[in-house]
Amino acid sequence: MSTVQCDPQIIVALDYANTKLAREMVVQLDPTRCRLKIGKELFTREGPGFVEELIRGDFEVFLDLKFHDIPNTTAKACQAAAELGIWMVNVHASGGRKMMLAAREAIDHCSHQPLLIAVTVLTSMAQSDLVELGINATPAEQVSRLASLAESSGMDGVVCSPLELSMLRKQWPGSSLVTPGIRPEWSQKGDQVRVMTPAEAVTHGSSYLVIGRPITSAKDPMRALEKIERETALA
Ligand code: C5P
Repeated sequence: MSTVQCDPQIIVALDYANTKLAREMVVQLDPTRCRLKIGKELFTREGPGFVEELIRGDFEVFLDLKFHDIPNTTAKACQAAAELGIWMVNVHASGGRKMMLAAREAIDHCSHQPLLIAVTVLTSMAQSDLVELGINATPAEQVSRLASLAESSGMDGVVCSPLELSMLRKQWPGSSLVTPGIRPEWSQKGDQVRVMTPAEAVTHGSSYLVIGRPITSAKDPMRALEKIERETALA
């Protein structure tokens, strides 16, 4: 189990194809200054053993697997994630109230209880994609609706785009808002389009900043992380 005492706001996205590459990054990072996000690619290749290794190394882990299934299956998956000792796990709000309530109940019965976060509308979805799914709402309206559903289904917060922060912070003041799409002014945008700087995101109400390449592609990742810490402290 992790012994991290502080509450670092930066979650470094470990978007690597294998543990060798991921370890080369992790050894450069300080578990008191950041948390780590493991997604579907690395988890599918390397499995829970690597997650446990990170936790033994005192890192807190956001297991970004976005569970979406029938209530019983999602609940069991959340329980399995909690038993790994992770810090945060997520499910798709579009799985519905019964699924989220089942996930909540499963986690509430675990001795170690990670934060349970919902994904609303994927930022890759445009209005036309929603229409194809039979959803006649704008992406913002759908985000707001699914965030309400997530709140009333016992979730701890949502993953959201920086552009949704102001609306969601107003709508759900006590939520954990987890925000990717973060780009410091001094970093490359890469494939991210609608971005905010770390300071702007914090000002708009972000609880946790998911940051990958601005840190992992930096020559000195800890220096990049420190720079972001300084920028957000001023926000
Ligand atoms: O390197 P970068 O900072 O763009 O990494 C962002 C991380 O957040 C990646 O792991 C990406 O998959 C994830 N993410 C995202 N946008 C979303 C949801 C997740 O960039 N809407």
